[in-house]
Amino acid sequence: MSSDPRRTTNPLFSDNKLKLGIFATNVSNGCAITTAPEALELNWPNTLSLAELADRHGYEAMVPVARWKGFGGESNFNGTNFETYTWAAGLAQATKQIGVLTTSHVPTVHPVMAAKQAATVDHISNGRFALNVVCGWFRPELEMFGASMMEHDDRYDYAAEWVEIVKMLWTREDEFDFEGKFLRVNKGFSMPKPIQKPFPPLMNAGASGKGQHFAAKYADMAFIHIDPSDLEKTKAHVAAYRNLAREEYGRDIQIWIGSPVVQRETRKEAQDYVNYYVVEKGDDVACDNMLAIQNIEMHKMMPERAEKMRFGAKMGWGGYPLVGTADDIVAGLEKLSAIGIDGVLLRWVDYWDGLRRWQKDVMPRLEQAGLRIAGGRAL
Ligand SMILES: Cc1cc2nc3c(=O)[nH]c(=O)nc-3n(C[C@H](O)[C@H](O)[C@H](O)COP(=O)(O)O)c2cc1C
Repeated sequence: MSSDPRRTTNPLFSDNKLKLGIFATNVSNGCAITTAPEALELNWPNTLSLAELADRHGYEAMVPVARWKGFGGESNFNGTNFETYTWAAGLAQATKQIGVLTTSHVPTVHPVMAAKQAATVDHISNGRFALNVVCGWFRPELEMFGASMMEHDDRYDYAAEWVEIVKMLWTREDEFDFEGKFLRVNKGFSMPKPIQKPFPPLMNAGASGKGQHFAAKYADMAFIHIDPSDLEKTKAHVAAYRNLAREEYGRDIQIWIGSPVVQRETRKEAQDYVNYYVVEKGDDVACDNMLAIQNIEMHKMMPERAEKMRFGAKMGWGGYPLVGTADDIVAGLEKLSAIGIDGVLLRWVDYWDGLRRWQKDVMPRLEQAGLRIAGGRAL
């Protein structure tokens, strides 16, 4: 059981052994790179109704993607996207118990502004806010801000200064000056302080060595990449990540992953649906544009490996696929929990259909399996 004082308001510290969040409902298509018509159409009523439903069903978190422009193709994947601080503010007001996150690209917002906006959402939500800190990885969208993207490791040095400043603004009662390599603050001060003490939780998805050190030092939740075909390897990675946080920084962190979900009455139906939205209706142009922006050189890969990567990306941005019946999905989640995963960010093609099926058949089984407490969140 967590002794973190933030557990009195923030479900991210609840007693549920396996925490569940909903990912990417602030961007068109969510995570599915497909032209299937049931993929998420982005408008306020849609994004709001998903948050309200997830709130009623007792999920721990709504996590947005930081996105500024789409990836082209017929779907213009993610091309319509809500800004994540204002999105979180709206959801915070409309929900009662779910954790609400902002995903903040650090180069796009000054830390004085970020600390103030975050504290405001923490007040609107009465202590249910968390901040997902990302450095930016898609050059064309960051270049819209008039600056070139920094080199990889510099991004994390910049982010470290950014987080240090935000934390000081959240906690210090006096004015302070900050003079870093990248950022400067003169007589910095912010009021109100956040509701959560000492400050709202942070999330980060650092995967490189530098990124992992950043997450281990600052984040309460580290979001990791997973090789679905090798859970033993992931188990070792999870243990190493936790050790890094504990031994080098004296901190306990949660480890989260992402999962695209297709739940049906039979395995065949589920697999047929995957084939429909990924193969028949997959948007290969958008997918290849996205991979190219990440400098993933598909033409240099063995065709089989390239196709596997494309398939995973179109299905829902990689992660650990949960495909099959409710029993298959629960078995998958039990495996993830057994290797030390604390939380899973879920995404569907049709989020409403997915949430409904999950609530009816997966949630009760997760409670029976001891992964979640009956009746949703328990503080
Ligand atoms: C599912 C997922 C979603 C991510 N979303 C974003 C995002 O919205 N914006 C962003 O800049 N980076 C995002 N990232 C990238 C991470 O912040 C990080 O840069 C990436 O995992 C590579 O790690 P590295 O920066 O240590 O090399 C995401 C990563 C994953 C796995």
